Amino acid sequence: MPKAATVLDELKRAFLLTNKDVLLLSASFHQAMLRGLHGQPSPLKMLPSFLSAPDGSERGLYLALDFGGTNVRVLLVELHGNSQYTILARRQTQLKDVGGRYDYTTSLTSADELFDFIASEVAQIVPSDKDLPLGHTFSFPSRQQDINNALLINWTKELAVSGIEGHNVTKLLAAALMRTGLTRVRPVAIINDTVGTLLTAAYTHQNSCIGSICGTGHNSAYLEPHYRTTDSEMIINMESGNFDKLPLTNYDCMLDAASEKPGHQLLEKAVSGRYLGELLRLILCDLVNKDLISPLLSTPYYLSAEDIAFILTDATPALSNIAKWLVERCHIGNWSIEDRLALKEAAELLVNRSASFVAASYLGVIQHIDPELERNHHIAIDGSLFEKMPGYAQTITRVLHNAHGVKANKITTGLTKDGSGVGAAIAAALALL
Ligand code: GLC
Repeated sequence: MPKAATVLDELKRAFLLTNKDVLLLSASFHQAMLRGLHGQPSPLKMLPSFLSAPDGSERGLYLALDFGGTNVRVLLVELHGNSQYTILARRQTQLKDVGGRYDYTTSLTSADELFDFIASEVAQIVPSDKDLPLGHTFSFPSRQQDINNALLINWTKELAVSGIEGHNVTKLLAAALMRTGLTRVRPVAIINDTVGTLLTAAYTHQNSCIGSICGTGHNSAYLEPHYRTTDSEMIINMESGNFDKLPLTNYDCMLDAASEKPGHQLLEKAVSGRYLGELLRLILCDLVNKDLISPLLSTPYYLSAEDIAFILTDATPALSNIAKWLVERCHIGNWSIEDRLALKEAAELLVNRSASFVAASYLGVIQHIDPELERNHHIAIDGSLFEKMPGYAQTITRVLHNAHGVKANKITTGLTKDGSGVGAAIAAALALL
């Protein structure tokens, strides 16, 4: 049997999940939620946000700062108070310049350098004549002390800026705003992007119960009906990217071993945009003989989720777009049609596994909040994988439906675009109520 066929057979065994596999995973996710909620050791941190769902009546003008590890986004958002909002201004800048002029993601950057850069971005869209409350979406595991104070527990998504882990992120931001002369901008709330996505969806729709990001990183938050001793509603940031009870493969282990934080974020490393390209690259190096691999393809993280999306959209019979991509992007001219087909199939398997793992985690949450599926539930999702990866959203829907049969129409999923940014404005409004 040719090498590609043998490797593909193994990949299918490891990557295709049956409905039973999904249900087992969702049950184990639910167990991890319960342990985390009760303060027992769990891969799920279950971090309280100090926020509940908005009712759509919140209003006012707010700055929203969205820091997720790839870009810094600043929005000026007006909440109209009737479940409607308008984004009046927006600005987005990458943390790492493609031309190599700057990079604010590594341990060579200090906390002050990063926050001065962020404050300079805020300065670009602040109207000079107004006092403005600022909501901050900071998309990393953070222990909240209240709505406006959070300590970064640890970096994820390969960020490694020095001097921020263990520190109060709001204080670092406030000091940088002062240094930049932005004395009229006042941070009033800090949230995770999953919380922001859930807040935005709840502001505009009923029944929103989960906010999730399927993009560079992966994580979900949900509305807990009875939070600990308070017994009241609380949005919980699960940090579900750290879930680790998963059937992982050698490729996942190789990627993890070479990452910034081995042993952490195993679900995120198996599903999210930051890592999918690298998983495909590792598979490729196995799929074809060594002499068919170029030095470029031997470079860690050379492939990205965009490459995967490109591969999946080639519908030509001879996969001629992939052939062109191999030459231009990877400097490889000698792959047969069988090799190209194997490459496309491997990419499909990876994306399918990612969406199935994510759907299993949503099923775990629904099992927790409504085991008999008596009510309708909307899962609000933001992020490039969900929005753009061919087949991703459809696979999530299919897996949810397979699990729940006829009752499945009670669960809907949908894109909540800009949810993480707009959610920061909603959080600011809730903080000032
Ligand atoms: C990572 C972060 C998490 C964030 C997610 C999506 O998993 O740890 O806080 O929500 O990425 O951006």
